[in-house]
Amino acid sequence: MAAGPRNIVFVGAPGSGKGTQAVKIEERFGLRQLSTGDILRQAVKDQTPLGVEAKGYMNAGKLVPDALMLGLIEDQLTKPAYAKGVVLDGFPRTMLQAEALDALLSKLGWSISAVIVLDVPDEVLAERITGRRSCPQCGNVHHVKFSPPKVAGVCDRCGAALVQRPDDTEEKVRVRQAAFHSQTQEIIPYYEKKGIVHHVDGLLAPDEVFARVENVLGRPG
Ligand code: AP5
Repeated sequence: MAAGPRNIVFVGAPGSGKGTQAVKIEERFGLRQLSTGDILRQAVKDQTPLGVEAKGYMNAGKLVPDALMLGLIEDQLTKPAYAKGVVLDGFPRTMLQAEALDALLSKLGWSISAVIVLDVPDEVLAERITGRRSCPQCGNVHHVKFSPPKVAGVCDRCGAALVQRPDDTEEKVRVRQAAFHSQTQEIIPYYEKKGIVHHVDGLLAPDEVFARVENVLGRPG
C-alpha cells in the first residue's frame, strides 16, 4: 500500500455508482469523500465565481474546463479534512487532470492507493440517472426503484428533502456518457500502467458492489 494516507479514486460513467460507493467507504473506512460534482453544485447554488463559470457546462452535460477543476482540487486537497485520506468521486476526468493530481499528491508526499473502475454498460445508465434522487445536504443518493428512501422524498441519512439534478435528463445523460467515452476513459490505461487499477462489476446490487470494493481495499486502518 502507498505511503501516507489512503487515497482512493473512483472512475466510472455517469450513474455507474461512484457517489453511492464513496459514501459507503467514507462510513466504513473513515476516509473523506471528495465529490467534485457536489462541490460544483454547491458553488452554483452559492453563485460563487467558480459556480457562475461552471453552471453552463454542467447544465449542458459537458465537462467543466480543466483550468477551473485544477484550482478547485488544489484548494480542497490541502484542507486538513482530507489528511486521513480521500475518496475522489468524479476527479480526475481527463488526462490533464490525472497528471495534475499525481503532481499535487507528490507535492504533499502522498500517492494513490487504488483506482476502482466501476464497469456498467451504457444501456442501464439512463434508468439509474433519471430515477436518482440526491441529497443536497449530505451528498447521499437514493433511487426511486433501486434504493428508495424509507420516507418518500426524504434523505435516509440526514432527513433533508431529496432533489432531482437539472442534468439528470435522458438528453443530458447522452452528452455526459459521450464525455466519459471521449475524455475520461483514457485515464484507465494510464493508471493500469501503474498497476493500481481494480475493475468492479457495477451492475451488481449496491451492497454487493461494496463487498467487492471492500475486498480490494482490505481492512480499514
Ligand atoms: P458528477 O456529479 O460527478 O456526475 P457524474 O460523473 O455524471 O456521476 P453521477 O453523479 O451522475 O453518477 P455516480 O457514478 O456518482 O452514480 P450514483 O452513485 O449517483 O458531475 C456532474 C457534472 O459536474 C459533470 O457533468 C461536469 O459538468 C462537472 N464535473 C464534475 N467533476 C468534474 C471534473 N473532474 N472535470 C470536469 N467537470 C466535472 O448512482 C446513480 C443512481 O443509480 C442513484 O440513484 C443510485 O441510487 C443508483 N445506483 C447506484 N448504484 C447502483 C447499483 N449498483 N444498482 C442499482 N442502482 C444503483
